[in-house]
Amino acid sequence: MAKSTTTYVCQSCGAQSRQFFGRCSACGSWNSLVEQSAPPTDARRRRPAPALGGEPAPRRSEAMAAVGQRPLARLATGFGELDRVLGGGLVPGSLVLVGGDPGIGKSTLLLQTAAAMAQAESVLYVSAEESAQQVKLRWRRLDQAATGGDGPQLLAETDLEQVLKELEALRPAVAIIDSIQALHDAELASAPGSVAQVRECAAALQRLAKKLDIALLLVGHVTKEGVLAGPKVLEHLVDAVLTFEGDRFASHRLLRAAKNRFGATHELGVFEMRDRGLVEVSNPSELFLGSPEGLAGMATIVACEGTRPLVVELQALVSTTSYASPRRTATGIGTNRLHQILAVLEKHLGLPLSRFDCYLAVAGGLQVEEPATDLGVAAAVVASYRDLALPAGTVLIGELGLGGQLRPVGQLELRLQEAARLGFRRAVVPRGSAVGQPALEVHEAGGVAEALVAALGANLNDQD
Ligand SMILES: Nc1ncnc2c1ncn2[C@@H]1O[C@H](COP(=O)(O)OP(=O)(O)OP(=O)(O)O)[C@@H](O)[C@H]1O
Ligand SMILES: [Mg+2]
Repeated sequence: MAKSTTTYVCQSCGAQSRQFFGRCSACGSWNSLVEQSAPPTDARRRRPAPALGGEPAPRRSEAMAAVGQRPLARLATGFGELDRVLGGGLVPGSLVLVGGDPGIGKSTLLLQTAAAMAQAESVLYVSAEESAQQVKLRWRRLDQAATGGDGPQLLAETDLEQVLKELEALRPAVAIIDSIQALHDAELASAPGSVAQVRECAAALQRLAKKLDIALLLVGHVTKEGVLAGPKVLEHLVDAVLTFEGDRFASHRLLRAAKNRFGATHELGVFEMRDRGLVEVSNPSELFLGSPEGLAGMATIVACEGTRPLVVELQALVSTTSYASPRRTATGIGTNRLHQILAVLEKHLGLPLSRFDCYLAVAGGLQVEEPATDLGVAAAVVASYRDLALPAGTVLIGELGLGGQLRPVGQLELRLQEAARLGFRRAVVPRGSAVGQPALEVHEAGGVAEALVAALGANLNDQD
């Protein structure tokens, strides 16, 4: 039997062993042993001592100012939305990890990207999960496939060695690996998808990609807990980590950057899944806006994703509780945030909300984490409690402090512009924001009570 070349290395203390243990025998930490292939013996040889008085070794470093400014021409991916999230296109020689839930459309996105890029560059699509026939089946469904040409090169292979050989032989400008978890390094005994396999495969691909200046796009699976499967190590290794997310029951998909060495991380790309593949949505606000006429308990906010404003509709339902402790459910917004806003309304407006159930939902299945949504949530809750409709064409923007005061929010100008573009006529914003937006009637408010009077104004008085 061939001698095993595998060792297990503790990730906390670095101790090595030839056998796997659940607990490191050196430092005692649990589950810290990870399989690694042993380095070749000559790599362990001692580095020769520098010869004194001999020829000086040639210098290889250079002054920062002298470093040549080779323009890093970014490659257009064919999707403006993907380019935006990448920071203006794909950087040659970079490594991008695309993660997402099963079936969300990662393969579709990358196959469409491959098709578009193949028009100008040489592109290799490595399918480790599906056979060539299965990829072809998807290909036939896509719009990009109809644009003609030979399309990208396709390789259905799971063996890392073969993939590396093909990359060396073809030297494409862009290579797509779908997925990194399905690749297998025969030198390691562990199963494909294990931590050691994923890390070794990614590292080997990276070494070659940097050497040959290949831009690599890797697909990574997301585990049940919602983190990228495989080790965190992978996230450190790559230049950018993109996550593709969305509601499986809605057709829109969102692409975000969790990490990006060559661009901002807060940009958002919006796509829609159609039967002929993914289509970019350049006007995403329209996706998240529902009925134009006002219903009780509805409010419109402007959330900002990076530099991208999104006009989003919120709905609240407040009803008398029949439980000992009232129910509070929020979709699209953190429940703690809702609790906090309800507490502020109870304390500062004297509303007996602790005797009412409260449900809150963001239209379109979008997640909004921003505090700038607070005022909109408060208005939706009060409107539902009072059974009132907010006047049509009003947006609410502002963060709510615990003292009931309204705090200013960032990028207000941008948010108001978007609201005006979509035909909104009024906006309630925190005082002191000092923005001029000629197309909108802007009401400034210092506290939540003042803001709600400005928003619900006439209707509130009707009831009193
Ligand atoms: N004919 C169709 N019409 C509309 N949508 C479709 C059609 N065929 C596939 N889809 C969509 O494409 C999705 C599958 O896309 P894809 O295979 O790219 O996902 P994936 O993220 O690569 O999945 P996996 O994690 O299994 O590799 C389906 O969940 C479905 O939403
Ligand atoms: Mg796939």
